[in-house]
Amino acid sequence: MTKRVGIFVSGGGSNMRALVEDMTGDHAARATVVLSNNADAGGIAWARDQGIATEVVDHRPFKGDRPAFEAAIDAALAPYNLDIICLAGFMRVLTAGFVAPWQGRMLNIHPSLLPKYKGLHTHARVLEAGDSVHGCSVHLVTAALDDGPILGQATVPVLDDDTPDTLAARVLVQEHRLYPAVLRRFAAGDSRMVTL
Ligand code: GRF
Repeated sequence: MTKRVGIFVSGGGSNMRALVEDMTGDHAARATVVLSNNADAGGIAWARDQGIATEVVDHRPFKGDRPAFEAAIDAALAPYNLDIICLAGFMRVLTAGFVAPWQGRMLNIHPSLLPKYKGLHTHARVLEAGDSVHGCSVHLVTAALDDGPILGQATVPVLDDDTPDTLAARVLVQEHRLYPAVLRRFAAGDSRMVTL
């Protein structure tokens, strides 16, 4: 039975595009809907052009009422009968109440070698720390931010002349390899760690 995947984006959606483009052939999953909190997200326009269903739930009218915003997301997702949610550059924090029914079926990609550097500005923090290795992680989402079981990691070297932008660009290339590899294995029921 093909797994139905919802992908959440807030911006360009380069990770979403990598996931969609890999979900072909004998892949156990297919992209069913792309959801964003941002009507202007490049990822929404791209998904529409590909003929993939899209949903926009703008967070701003909810004025910080996270449960109400998340109830609107649940309502938007209901018709799609999803099996898996992939967060891909989704920039809204989700509450424990939203995550709970999806626990074990919601994945996220984070631009650091978790558990190091949870949260934002990871590339700048790696440079400030003088680390020689950096990378990205795909993990199962739990109520705690960037904290769930890790399903895959990819590493990149940190170069002497790196800036946060050059480092982010190098990590992003690996994100586009790692996330599809993890989802392909996870959708087939295999949760063994992917290491790139
Ligand atoms: C990426 O750095 C990803 O690690 C983070 O959001 C950034 C943008 O992702 N979660 P995308 O290009 O919108 O997929």
